[in-house]
Amino acid sequence: MSSTFDHRYPSVDDLRAAARRRIPGFVFDFLDGGCNDDVNLRRNVEDFRSVELRPRYLRPRGKVTLETELFGRVWGAPFGVCPVGLQGLVWPGACEALAAAATAHRLPFILSTTTTADPETIGRITGGTHWFQFYVPVEADLREALLRRVEDSGCRVLVLLADVPVFGYRPRDIRNRFAVPPRIGTRTVLQMLARPAWGMAMLRRGKPTFATLRPYLPPDIDLRQLADFMDRTFTGRLTGDDLSRIRDRWKGTLVLKGVANPEDAEEAAARGLDGIIVSNHGGRQLDAGQSSIRALPEIVAAVGARMRVMIDSGVRSGPDVARALASGARFAFLGRAFMYGAAALGDRGGEHVAEMITRQLRQVMEQIGCERTVDLPAHLVRG
Ligand SMILES: Cc1cc2nc3c(=O)[nH]c(=O)nc-3n(C[C@H](O)[C@H](O)[C@H](O)COP(=O)(O)O)c2cc1C
Repeated sequence: MSSTFDHRYPSVDDLRAAARRRIPGFVFDFLDGGCNDDVNLRRNVEDFRSVELRPRYLRPRGKVTLETELFGRVWGAPFGVCPVGLQGLVWPGACEALAAAATAHRLPFILSTTTTADPETIGRITGGTHWFQFYVPVEADLREALLRRVEDSGCRVLVLLADVPVFGYRPRDIRNRFAVPPRIGTRTVLQMLARPAWGMAMLRRGKPTFATLRPYLPPDIDLRQLADFMDRTFTGRLTGDDLSRIRDRWKGTLVLKGVANPEDAEEAAARGLDGIIVSNHGGRQLDAGQSSIRALPEIVAAVGARMRVMIDSGVRSGPDVARALASGARFAFLGRAFMYGAAALGDRGGEHVAEMITRQLRQVMEQIGCERTVDLPAHLVRG
């Protein structure tokens, strides 16, 4: 990546500021917002920053490697890209570009059921290393049809979602009357005119659609209609029995995302899942909830010996990835960080974020004298 980006955007905060300047206000709000008063969103970030690492300086050192094994594959670094819905609305082609950047850096890319590229397209880009976040259809035929498409795309890791029993209460989207495609009101038009680069890119690529769900959806629905459709069509309220049913059907790796307590983690382990992602959906669902990094240690203590524990929600830097791993996670995922990059820098954003986080993480490992990512827990300052 060109050094121009290194100098202009050396942090995720720089990319967030650039994203705010480059995309319409209602789109930035959709990406940036949490729920209710954004308390959980802020705590996710602040609590990560309160985790401290202890350096060891006077030890002979070997070469630092960021390569990390997970689910039978050695990845280039211990972080990946979260599933995010509607990526092509934030920046046209963002989903495909992030999948390509993740693949170039040997990082896992998780495709959302509700984003703007389908598993077939993403499978061609990743060569089958992508994971798929699967909203579980109530109806068996649709469930089977979707699962078959995901399998045929080469995907070997299926991610179920625990933390969306209902849609989050998101005041920014409510105020903006957020809809897909955007409603053409005076305010929306003014916001779009003020962001010509986004408008031009949108014209070039065409309006974003829910690519995976398109065959099953009525055309042009707003977010409330989407919520109703999702509610009717998918099981947002997963139970242990649902996990077992999918465990029986899916031969590959099965992961539960949105785990926020040791009880649900125990249930997932008992039902034969291979891993969990400790997450609160980036603070978009339960404003009164605990931050993900605070929830992590108790969950690792409960199931860490039986399954892979990963984390997202609040990761904004290489030091945060190190903090996550030092606190017991095997891997960390970033949602907004990659999306701010895509919004700020278009097709080159994913590359820049992947390189920046890698560089920052390597610096931390060199600094504290830790050669392998699995040894990071020895460097945690315990409270
Ligand atoms: C705009 C936006 C859309 C999202 N859509 C999805 C989704 O479709 N499926 C999903 O599992 N998680 C979704 N998430 C949650 C992310 O996968 C992830 O849990 C969260 O972004 C992590 O927090 P971070 O943004 O602080 O990194 C979304 C998050 C954002 C910000």
